[in-house]
Amino acid sequence: MKRNVPLYFMALLAVAVMGYSSRRSAMDLDATPRITVTYNDLISARRFNSHAQNYTTLLLEDEKGILYVGARGAIFSLNSSNIADSSHRTVEWEVSPEMQAMCLKKGKNNKTECYNHVKLLQRLNATHLYACGTYAFHPLCTYIDTNNFTLPSHFEEGKEKCPYDPAHGYTGLIVDGSLYTATRYEFRSLPDIRRNRYQRILKTEESPLHWLNDADFVASVLVRESVRSPVGDDDKIYYFFTERAGEETTSIFDKAQAPRVARVARVCKNDVGGKKILQRKWTSFTKARLACYIPYYEVLKDVYSLDSGDWRSTVFYAIFTLSAQWRSMEVSAVCRYNISEVRAAFLGPYMEYQDSSRKWSQYTGDVPVPRPGSCITNRARKSGYNSSQDLPNNVLDFIKLHPLMYEEVKPVDGAPLLVKKNAIYTQVAVDRVRGLDGQVYNVLFLGTGNGWIHKAVVIRSMVHIIEEIQAFKNLQPVENLVISKQQRSLYVGAQSGVLQLPLSTCKRYLSCFDCILARDPYCGWDGESCRELTEMLDRSLLIQDMLHGSVGCGNDSAQALAAQKNRTVLRGDDVLLPCEQASNLAQATWLVNGTQVLAEDREGHFRLGVDGLLVTDTQMEYSGEYRCYAEENGLRTLVAAYTLSVLREQLVPQPLPTLSYPSGHAPSHAYEDMRFIYIAVITMLGGLCLVLTVVLLYVSCLQKRKGKYSLGVPKASSVELQTVSSNCMGKGSQEEEEGEDLGLFPDGCLQIIPGEATTLASPSKEAPPAPPPPPPPLPMEFTNGIPTLPNMLRKMNGNSYMLLRQNEEPCTSPLYNSFTEELSKILEKRKHTQLVEKLDESSV
Ligand SMILES: *[C@@H]1O[C@H](CO)[C@@H](O)[C@H](O)[C@H]1NC(C)=O
Ligand SMILES: *[C@@H]1O[C@H](CO)[C@@H](O)[C@H](O)[C@H]1NC(C)=O
Ligand SMILES: *[C@@H]1O[C@H](CO)[C@@H](O)[C@H](O)[C@H]1NC(C)=O
Ligand SMILES: *[C@@H]1O[C@H](CO)[C@@H](O)[C@H](O)[C@H]1NC(C)=O
Ligand SMILES: *[C@@H]1O[C@H](CO)[C@@H](O)[C@H](O)[C@H]1NC(C)=O
Ligand SMILES: *[C@@H]1O[C@H](CO)[C@@H](O)[C@H](O)[C@H]1NC(C)=O
Ligand SMILES: *[C@@H]1O[C@H](CO)[C@@H](O)[C@H](O)[C@H]1NC(C)=O
Ligand SMILES: *[C@@H]1O[C@H](CO)[C@@H](O)[C@H](O)[C@H]1NC(C)=O
Ligand SMILES: *[C@@H]1O[C@H](CO)[C@@H](O)[C@H](O)[C@H]1NC(C)=O
Ligand SMILES: *[C@@H]1O[C@H](CO)[C@@H](O)[C@H](O)[C@H]1NC(C)=O
Repeated sequence: MKRNVPLYFMALLAVAVMGYSSRRSAMDLDATPRITVTYNDLISARRFNSHAQNYTTLLLEDEKGILYVGARGAIFSLNSSNIADSSHRTVEWEVSPEMQAMCLKKGKNNKTECYNHVKLLQRLNATHLYACGTYAFHPLCTYIDTNNFTLPSHFEEGKEKCPYDPAHGYTGLIVDGSLYTATRYEFRSLPDIRRNRYQRILKTEESPLHWLNDADFVASVLVRESVRSPVGDDDKIYYFFTERAGEETTSIFDKAQAPRVARVARVCKNDVGGKKILQRKWTSFTKARLACYIPYYEVLKDVYSLDSGDWRSTVFYAIFTLSAQWRSMEVSAVCRYNISEVRAAFLGPYMEYQDSSRKWSQYTGDVPVPRPGSCITNRARKSGYNSSQDLPNNVLDFIKLHPLMYEEVKPVDGAPLLVKKNAIYTQVAVDRVRGLDGQVYNVLFLGTGNGWIHKAVVIRSMVHIIEEIQAFKNLQPVENLVISKQQRSLYVGAQSGVLQLPLSTCKRYLSCFDCILARDPYCGWDGESCRELTEMLDRSLLIQDMLHGSVGCGNDSAQALAAQKNRTVLRGDDVLLPCEQASNLAQATWLVNGTQVLAEDREGHFRLGVDGLLVTDTQMEYSGEYRCYAEENGLRTLVAAYTLSVLREQLVPQPLPTLSYPSGHAPSHAYEDMRFIYIAVITMLGGLCLVLTVVLLYVSCLQKRKGKYSLGVPKASSVELQTVSSNCMGKGSQEEEEGEDLGLFPDGCLQIIPGEATTLASPSKEAPPAPPPPPPPLPMEFTNGIPTLPNMLRKMNGNSYMLLRQNEEPCTSPLYNSFTEELSKILEKRKHTQLVEKLDESSV
């Protein structure tokens, strides 16, 4: 039986995936970010970091223009308009050496645990912040005066407010002076939702039923449901977490293997506990299941609450990843929940645990009045129940045994908004933006486990990923995301620092088509450039098309961008006509003399690649007009245009007059100059060989980093070799570049057509010079190919090519072979990813 459990999981997963993709197009399963912005291409990014690490806690006070940051051993106050300016203030809050020694004695990790990780940072009153830190497994809290921003000498015990272990899921809020926290506080204690300070201290019940089972908290949200409530309802705090499912008792699950489910729980703000029963315990705690994509096999990562001013419009955005048994698979899902549906679940039937059958099932008996788990409302007050202490015993007894609701909360439209392969989302923040069409669009900022941000917009019930942004150079999870409306900034907290990014960078879009294809609700085309809507007083002339991303630009406004270039080659040579597509969603179309080059035409002399058209073994009749268009969303724009001229044979060497000289050189020195030039050319060639060798060494070192790829090297264009000659030194090839003089440019000894390989991988100092490891085996189960495959690599699927030729010349370096190996390995991997992609579409 046990043996079959994984099979069952697999089947279930397959069914879930299938069910999902039958409702949606297969494309949705791997929504592709339209553009990829690597670390070096970031615009107006500002960074803050100091000696500290783990910048995990962010508190934005937008009106004051301050971003407070809780890190390991310090709290910072930053100017939110520019976090990198020098005006920041710091409260050093390190662990005392004695406490650190005690922590080490307990056997804790001296690299991470025996420090003071600031986990809570909340505004307490007009003058003070309340802060709690793990303080080397001895949590402490304190009040920080925000005027002089210094560490006070007095501290409070933090053991019921802050976890001991910095790695435990934790959420904390201060609401009207009371501190609401949820976590597993001590090492061996049960997880708990607690209220401290001001109001009466309250906890969750642990007997006879545990209200929480091994819960891992991710977020808590205050919803002010008392505001203009016709029934005199109370404000509520909603908790989001993943826990062991008690209710699922079908035979396939052992108790120990009980699956984890996502939950939403809530308590009332004015709950004060019961008098005799549930004394100092919540009388309003109830919880319900949150379903998103694959119930039971998903882990909740983060929740963001969004409303338009009225709590009734509240929408929760939740992100999920697959649970641990699917570690080899990277899939994330985004679901959206409507507050009215969450409330409906809490108003529905309860679940009950039957001791006899040891099963949870729907409770069908009578429900006492006032309704257990509801807040004190006008109706209860009318019946004389002014506070939870007045509640009758039968209500309290009922609550003790029925914390779980029968109905699950389903996402809006019954399906995830987005399912994304090859990404682990860790954080989400959402902004509301009014587009030019007057509609409000929700823009999601999704942080990933490897330091990228996906910016996506919800259009009806579909998600379009506008861009993926590499926020950090080194792989590290995004740990916090905060949006400032005031500064129009996104703050990203992570291990190595805090990053401030503009919510939009419209100027990145260079043409009208680019601007509308982006479907960025912050951006519009003003006739000359792509502009931020907020910067424009007069929006009447702006162009934006959120719904379709295609309408509004004239017919030929994009054509002007592409300059006509001339290319001249010798007959028999190969030539690459580059054509870089800015968008990952665009498809390249080539017209030669007005006739389209078909991708399937593989036998011919044209090879279509993602970054250009390769013409091999050129013949005289290949001369002509070559035009590269980008096709996206039904729009076709000219990206590059070339006039190719094929010469019958090499021109008689006549380098002298063609190499440009500063005028005034005496012609009598020509011969010596020529010799000098030949020597120079030879030296240059030697240099080129050397440079190539270094590049090869570098690239091959990079490739030795097993498994993971990361980005960080400039784009392929920097190693563009446009003409590929079949010979090395012997035969040069002519190159005519934008009207420059015809020059003799013998190619280097190595001809590489730039493929994607050159854009892979970031420098790695620890790469060993050992022989390259064998390629990683293709995982057996449903895999997504290589884990954390950057999207740039995705371009290699399909039409890309990689061409490498060895020369007769002896100048090949010993590294050359390993480079070839690396390249063929990449090709091999590419095949695999291609295979898997296809598998996903057809068989899954
Ligand atoms: C803090 O950052 C370090 C790396 O800088 C990391 O190894 C550690 O896990 C982080 N700790 C927490 C609690 O996030
Ligand atoms: C933040 O910086 C801006 C400009 O650099 C300045 O005008 C503003 O006063 C600063 N805010 C604070 C809170 O220091
Ligand atoms: C942690 O402990 C190891 C060995 O016990 C020691 O080498 C290292 O220096 C310690 N690190 C810190 C930061 O104390
Ligand atoms: C804020 O709280 C702190 C700590 O309890 C207290 O000392 C301070 O007086 C309070 N400030 C105001 C304005 O109430
Ligand atoms: C900070 O201000 C508080 C009162 O506002 C005062 O009690 C405390 O001594 C001040 N700390 C320093 C270091 O000036
Ligand atoms: C929530 O759902 C209800 C019913 O499905 C719908 O009427 C309401 O407009 C939704 N609210 C929001 C904010 O989406
Ligand atoms: C509830 O409050 C009302 C008015 O505040 C009071 O008249 C009534 O006696 C209270 N009832 C109880 C049971 O305390
Ligand atoms: C675009 O071209 C089509 C035909 O090619 C023409 O009918 C239309 O008027 C043109 N639109 C603009 C804005 O130039
Ligand atoms: C393109 O047209 C020119 C002149 O009409 C012709 O010589 C050439 O062969 C054509 N090229 C191709 C690839 O058809
Ligand atoms: C390309 O060559 C043609 C003549 O063959 C010339 O008229 C044109 O100006 C050249 N274009 C460029 C951009 O140099």
